[in-house]
Amino acid sequence: FAFIFVFAFHADAYDPVDPLGNITINWDFTSMDTSQYTVMVSIHNYQLYRHIERPGWRLGWAWSGHEIIWDVRGAETTELGNCSGVHFDPGHPPHCCDKRPVVVDLPPGAPYNIQVANCCRGGVLSSLSQNNSTATAAFQMSVGGFDRDGGNPNGDPVKPANFSIGVPGYTCSNATQVPATRSKVDEQRHVQVMLTWQIICSYSQFRDGPSPSCCVSLSSFYNSTIVGCPQCSCGCPRSPSAPQCFRQQSKLQALPDADGNPPTPVIRCTEHMCPIRVHWHVKQNYREYWRVKASITNYDMVSNYSDWNLVVRHPNLANITQLFSFNYQPLIQYDTINDTAMFWGIANYNEMLLRDGNVQTEMILKKDPSDFTFSGGWAFPRRVYFNGHQCAMPSPDQYPSLPNAASDVRVSALQRWLITGSCLLLLSMFHVM
Ligand SMILES: *[C@@H]1O[C@H](CO)[C@@H](O)[C@H](O)[C@H]1NC(C)=O
Ligand SMILES: *[C@@H]1O[C@H](CO)[C@@H](O)[C@H](O)[C@H]1NC(C)=O
Ligand SMILES: *[C@@H]1O[C@H](CO)[C@@H](O)[C@H](O)[C@H]1NC(C)=O
Ligand SMILES: *[C@@H]1O[C@H](CO)[C@@H](O)[C@H](O)[C@H]1NC(C)=O
Ligand SMILES: *[C@@H]1O[C@H](CO)[C@@H](O)[C@H](O)[C@H]1NC(C)=O
Ligand SMILES: *[C@@H]1O[C@H](CO)[C@@H](O)[C@H](O)[C@H]1NC(C)=O
Ligand SMILES: *[C@@H]1O[C@H](CO)[C@@H](O)[C@H](O)[C@H]1NC(C)=O
Ligand SMILES: *[C@@H]1O[C@H](CO)[C@@H](O)[C@H](O)[C@H]1NC(C)=O
Ligand SMILES: *[C@@H]1O[C@H](CO)[C@@H](O)[C@H](O)[C@H]1NC(C)=O
Ligand SMILES: *[C@@H]1O[C@H](CO)[C@@H](O)[C@H](O)[C@H]1NC(C)=O
Repeated sequence: FAFIFVFAFHADAYDPVDPLGNITINWDFTSMDTSQYTVMVSIHNYQLYRHIERPGWRLGWAWSGHEIIWDVRGAETTELGNCSGVHFDPGHPPHCCDKRPVVVDLPPGAPYNIQVANCCRGGVLSSLSQNNSTATAAFQMSVGGFDRDGGNPNGDPVKPANFSIGVPGYTCSNATQVPATRSKVDEQRHVQVMLTWQIICSYSQFRDGPSPSCCVSLSSFYNSTIVGCPQCSCGCPRSPSAPQCFRQQSKLQALPDADGNPPTPVIRCTEHMCPIRVHWHVKQNYREYWRVKASITNYDMVSNYSDWNLVVRHPNLANITQLFSFNYQPLIQYDTINDTAMFWGIANYNEMLLRDGNVQTEMILKKDPSDFTFSGGWAFPRRVYFNGHQCAMPSPDQYPSLPNAASDVRVSALQRWLITGSCLLLLSMFHVM
């Protein structure tokens, strides 16, 4: 049964935590004549909690004709391509003659004369919840050499195909024409757009691959057992497929490679081999409230996670009364279900999860007498995502149990887990219908 549910849930890109989430790419044509057009390409991250981290987006497509990119502002293509058949003024060489160009963002601090608004963040896109002003990227390009009469009665350029955003887990639609609107160039300036194409890219955990990159461990005040992450959650130490792992206590100095890509992760050796562990500790019981301590540990000895985020599903998260040291926002999906919370760091305090470091919070939740209980593993989260990736959880039959708990309590933990699963199955079936 669990297997069927996992398959049904992953078969389409539907995310019950963020059903409308997508990355929308607009091509706004600001000038067009018979031999050349100028297009402002903008990439909008409309996902509530998924962001694009370093090494950033790499927007690729396949031209349908013999297009040549003469100029790009705010980004650049990775290859020049074969320009040997192309005629040009010596003073104005083409930027890219590749049939399948790949465009990457410029790093922060690029020269001012090649910038455009919203460019130059090294390909990083914030999630909409964390910062909507850095959730958009843009670049401008001038294209020539296109075939205007490829069967197109309006004489509009022929759409490229095979769009890709170059980030694992995402697939992109074909370009479709949508009504053109004015485009905002900067705070003061708008330009008239003559034609707009739109491409929608969506994420699927299934396409991102089954291997987790984070895991969850659990403990409670009522039981001294600490339930660790499942062994080999992200790989097994010493197995050939495992990433490199380190035992020394010393910190390593990481150098980016020659292309400026982030350094490869170097994970501290653990039984779970995950770069990230999320620990959920049920800390205290009050009459009307209970207190949880949550911490996130980075086992990567070289990479910092800037602007990390954590998404947790638990039915009592609708009743958070106090939260320390993290930002917080409920992700509300349906009016009767309000069990998902997104947490992220506070600017200039803990928005960066340092290599070999940790960040932590405590929260106070108001007991809802209709369903609150410490038995059956109820106080532990149902699902945890770090930076949009679902984390491996211990099996429910290992959850710390109340003293004197009989085996029926463990059965009920398993039942709860199955019930959560069947609800998700229903939701995803509902979506398919
Ligand atoms: C993409 O996201 C936008 C903004 O949330 C939403 O309006 C639109 O319907 C979404 N499109 C698709 C195809 O999901
Ligand atoms: C797009 O990709 C498909 C499959 O990889 C390929 O068959 C097709 O030729 C590509 N289209 C263009 C215009 O390159
Ligand atoms: C470059 O293009 C020219 C003409 O378009 C062709 O003759 C040549 O073989 C191409 N070179 C490569 C390396 O593909
Ligand atoms: C969003 O990002 C901008 C630009 O980096 C920054 O000035 C602003 O303070 C950020 N806003 C929040 C809420 O973090
Ligand atoms: C962006 O976020 C800020 C708060 O962080 C909010 O006040 C503003 O309305 C948001 N803008 C848009 C366009 O959603
Ligand atoms: C894009 O269009 C091509 C043909 O124009 C079609 O074969 C392909 O299935 C389309 N891809 C998507 C994702 O719709
Ligand atoms: C991580 O942050 C530390 C402290 O700010 C810094 O010294 C180190 O260079 C950073 N590592 C990387 C890979 O950026
Ligand atoms: C969902 O939970 C949050 C956090 O307690 C609360 O602020 C919000 O009002 C709730 N929304 C609904 C629709 O119940
Ligand atoms: C907990 O939150 C839910 C949803 O917002 C609400 O219906 C319920 O009354 C709250 N319970 C308490 C004890 O505040
Ligand atoms: C603590 O929880 C574990 C795992 O469920 C259980 O085996 C153990 O008996 C519990 N300890 C006590 C003192 O109840």
